[in-house]
Amino acid sequence: MIFRKEGLTRAIEAVVAAGGSEPREAKAVAENLVMANLLGHDSHGIGMIPRYINALLEGGLAVNQHPRVTLDTGALLALDGCKGYGQTIGHESMEMAIERAKRHGSCVMVLANSHHLGRIGHWAEMAVAQELVAIHFVNVISQPRVAPYAGRDARFGTNPVCIGIPLPGEAPFLLDMATAALAQGKMRVAHNKREKVPAGLLIDDKGFPTDDPRYAVVPPLGAILAFGGYKGYGLAVACELLGGALTGGGTWHYEESDKQRVLNGMLAILIDPSRLGTADSFRGETRQFLDWLRKGRSAPGADKVRIAGEPERETRARRERDGISVDDTTWKEILGVAAKVKLTAEKVEALARA
Ligand SMILES: NC(=O)c1ccc[n+]([C@@H]2O[C@H](COP(=O)([O-])OP(=O)(O)OC[C@H]3O[C@@H](n4cnc5c(N)ncnc54)[C@H](O)[C@@H]3O)[C@@H](O)[C@H]2O)c1
Repeated sequence: MIFRKEGLTRAIEAVVAAGGSEPREAKAVAENLVMANLLGHDSHGIGMIPRYINALLEGGLAVNQHPRVTLDTGALLALDGCKGYGQTIGHESMEMAIERAKRHGSCVMVLANSHHLGRIGHWAEMAVAQELVAIHFVNVISQPRVAPYAGRDARFGTNPVCIGIPLPGEAPFLLDMATAALAQGKMRVAHNKREKVPAGLLIDDKGFPTDDPRYAVVPPLGAILAFGGYKGYGLAVACELLGGALTGGGTWHYEESDKQRVLNGMLAILIDPSRLGTADSFRGETRQFLDWLRKGRSAPGADKVRIAGEPERETRARRERDGISVDDTTWKEILGVAAKVKLTAEKVEALARA
């Protein structure tokens, strides 16, 4: 099924509102998820709604929350997300951190106990839009899905890292990635579409390599591997220590959980490059490096060299034009949870198609 972004946003907004969220929150959640679909990250798009609503009904996600300040010294900011929707908590936390980074030149923000923050790039984009550099380390309290290097058992989540850098005269550098070889949600999307995943990303329940995404989605579970062998694994552990331990939100050290809630802890380091005394170098050298990078030849079979963030912007242009494709399983799951919050499938369909 192909939807326009406007209809899809209205439909998702209605489902979130039916769960008890104020209009502002319902709109923020819907816009954030549809934006992830537009950018090509279906794993972090509207397909999260079943999980969110089930978490809400289980009591693992709370509506209409705001970050609680546990420490504020200006350049150091500690917040508790109170298990609220990440789309509200993330936005309000970043607004506070950005204001402090502008005032003091930098801000180190730790955010504990936010419900799922979605695409971490969304938060870096907020800072970059204010000409700030943003570095994020995030852990995931949900279910262990990723095995350590040389390990067989899943021990932590897909722990994302994100670096956003404003660029002179063009859209930002936005490296936004799971430390897992493939985001958990992408395994779910592949499983829903009955597709295989590339070799080298996943092991089955006995520790052998497999290309069947079911081993990341339904029992008996195997484990996703970290990207880049021990290097990605090292970054994943850093996310657990910085996003989990340092934020106060906690690390993952439990056996399997059947809870639907997904909590994120996030360390965000914001830097105002105009305040370090290197602003001329930052602009000039950035420009020269990017020009140099792009003068290099592309590899055989590749169309061009891109920087992080570019592929998503290209996908967005295509999906704004052609619409967003949603697979049947995902759509049925969304209609299923809509019914749980007393919204009929007809109503959701009508909003999505309007
Ligand atoms: N909230 C959570 O708990 C959580 C957990 C894991 C992942 N995530 C999110 O999942 C999303 C997807 O992560 P992912 O690892 O699947 O992303 P990905 O592998 O699709 O992309 C990773 C990065 O590589 C860049 N990239 C891709 N192709 C490129 C190319 N040809 N040239 C140069 N750069 C290129 C992208 O711009 C992006 O910055 C991210 O937004 C991440 O924040 C969130």
